[in-house]
Amino acid sequence: MLRVMIVGAGAIAPSHIEGFLSFPDRVSIQVIANPTVSKAKTLIEKYSLKADAVGSFEEGLDRVDIVSICSPPSTHRDIAVQALRAGKHVLLEKPMAMSVQQCDEILEAAREGHALLSVVSQIRFIDSIARTCDLIRSGNYGKLLFSQINTFWYRGQSYFDLYWRGLWNVEGGGCTLNHAVHHIDLLLWLTGMPAELTGFLSNLNHQNSEEEDISLSVLRYKDGSMAQINTSLIHHGEVQKLDFQMEKAGISIPFDVRCSKVRSNGFPMDDEDMLREMTAHFESFKPLEHEHHTGQIQNFLDAIEEGVPLKVSGIDGRNAIELISGIYKSAFTKKTVTFPLEKDDPYTHFPSRVEEAPRFHKKTRSVKAFDDTTITSFKGKF
Ligand SMILES: NC(=O)c1ccc[n+]([C@@H]2O[C@H](COP(=O)([O-])OP(=O)(O)OC[C@H]3O[C@@H](n4cnc5c(N)ncnc54)[C@H](O)[C@@H]3O)[C@@H](O)[C@H]2O)c1
Repeated sequence: MLRVMIVGAGAIAPSHIEGFLSFPDRVSIQVIANPTVSKAKTLIEKYSLKADAVGSFEEGLDRVDIVSICSPPSTHRDIAVQALRAGKHVLLEKPMAMSVQQCDEILEAAREGHALLSVVSQIRFIDSIARTCDLIRSGNYGKLLFSQINTFWYRGQSYFDLYWRGLWNVEGGGCTLNHAVHHIDLLLWLTGMPAELTGFLSNLNHQNSEEEDISLSVLRYKDGSMAQINTSLIHHGEVQKLDFQMEKAGISIPFDVRCSKVRSNGFPMDDEDMLREMTAHFESFKPLEHEHHTGQIQNFLDAIEEGVPLKVSGIDGRNAIELISGIYKSAFTKKTVTFPLEKDDPYTHFPSRVEEAPRFHKKTRSVKAFDDTTITSFKGKF
């Protein structure tokens, strides 16, 4: 039986707890750590856990095999490094860390401690997304030419009142780092790292945040193919769309597929045969047993117990941070950025990564926690 400690008893912690509770024969939650211990106790009561509430993760480290990190991004490096060095397997919430250099420290700690590290990217474990990605990754429908990632979310003004949000030095970035990171991970899983990108940022409607609430980036890959990452917190209805144009077909998330064949004059007509083939491929995919965080936790446990490959590794988490650091570098310097970023590039380090950041607004309101801890999630959107 693997023993788990949840670190951070805030909004995302229930997704981890419910995920682990789905595997009662394999894991048991032994400790919840949170500086305000009463928050840990509340979760223990809510889920009727036989666990201890502690004020710091160090108090629980010796008693567990797995550390599930649900604390704010600025704490990720220190907690992950200490846990991994102690040989604990770590499930780490996104974003992996505040800089590429911090990600490298975490990866090094995993090597030193011979421990597994998975960075949360629960959308890879949404059934319809996994199916769509299987079609793209199969290569059956030709080369991927153009990807468009629209992370269109909506957050009101008060979202940035939480003490660690809205400050470049604490949160590390706005919607590009903390929201688009999900879809950026997905894009990089399909395409790998681009050769270069140009990015733009602005803050259009969040006066209690120094950071961006919108960012638009254009990416070019070594083979000439291109992508666009558009991220915002101002989109009413949060209509998400990820679109992938391959040589033989276009496919979108939420699932939609279009196939064109060509008339002799170059104009398109629908390719019904290809459409049928792709729909059959989509429908033949073995349904995921568990989705979202629970799906990722299942894979994490399989990796620990049976040695199966992790579907989302620490390297994946690092790649997303490198790409995002590139978007910030390009936007702040108003230049096209090439990859990989050099190890001594200030944009791979924190806080130098945010030194040049435009302060869009001054943060004037700050609360330690919200009374209402309900958050919207990907559930039901795809
Ligand atoms: N995967 C997702 O869909 C998703 C959704 C929301 C948040 N997140 C991520 O989860 C993390 C937490 O976000 P949240 O919304 O739950 O924040 P939150 O502020 O609601 O909760 C964080 C909790 O961590 C505690 N904490 C702070 N420092 C700590 C430390 N050193 N040790 C232990 N606990 C500590 C805080 O007191 C708080 O209770 C962030 O990295 C965020 O980006 C992921």
